[in-house]
Amino acid sequence: MQNNIFSGLFVGQNLITFKQIDSTNNYLKDLLSNSKPVSEGTVIMAESQYAGRGQQQNRWHSEDGKNLTFSILLKPIFLPVTQQFDLTRAVSLGIINALEPLLGTQLKIKWPNDVYFENGKLGGILIENMVQGTQIKNSVIGIGLNINQDSFPAEVPNAVSLKQILRKDYDLKLLLSDICKNIEAAYLNLKAGRLEFVRNAYLERLYWLNEDRKFKAKGRTFTASIKEVKPDGLLVLNTGEEYNLKEIEFLNR
Ligand code: BTN
Repeated sequence: MQNNIFSGLFVGQNLITFKQIDSTNNYLKDLLSNSKPVSEGTVIMAESQYAGRGQQQNRWHSEDGKNLTFSILLKPIFLPVTQQFDLTRAVSLGIINALEPLLGTQLKIKWPNDVYFENGKLGGILIENMVQGTQIKNSVIGIGLNINQDSFPAEVPNAVSLKQILRKDYDLKLLLSDICKNIEAAYLNLKAGRLEFVRNAYLERLYWLNEDRKFKAKGRTFTASIKEVKPDGLLVLNTGEEYNLKEIEFLNR
């Protein structure tokens, strides 16, 4: 009987699901440190994480059974570590391309890799790379997306779910298979060396691109607009200044 809903070549073909786990990123990293090889495209998915991790040492909170929390193993040995931001671009684009038929062009990537719908955070990505010499040997791509959650705690005032936007529940496995297919397609573009395509597509979908907005950096609040993202991931404003993650804050009001 054919019951594999994952239609890509490798991402999602080996799917391991858990009811509860500490963190899918942790599990995948532990699996990699054991002696047995783990195939590229392996996906670890959890209904609930009790120690889900976000960017910058934050916790990732997600109501049990309501959302997508998963990690994908990629082996981008073709990618020098100096180009690791291109992997961030490809993964972000894959997610956007998968969700765009549902959410349209209001769906954006907030630099560097948050998934935004209007001014709400729909999801985030935590990429952990393992480097061999100058190249990336393994990449653990952790993705959290708010899907069927009805409300969020006050600590995350800007979070939003697909259900809050579209007023219906979604099948998590079906969405996962679509996201895996689209991430695989974007990753294969990267692997085929279509760097300009991936970089331009990422830039086109950037939240606040070419809009006069408020930012905070070095203790100063100012208005500026985003002009580009350097190959290595630095954010460039119309003032000519370049910022790394943690150096600049987006102010919504
Ligand atoms: C962010 O802070 O925006 C990134 C959030 C990433 C969360 C996902 S959920 C699946 C995977 N496992 C984790 O512990 N974190 C990532």
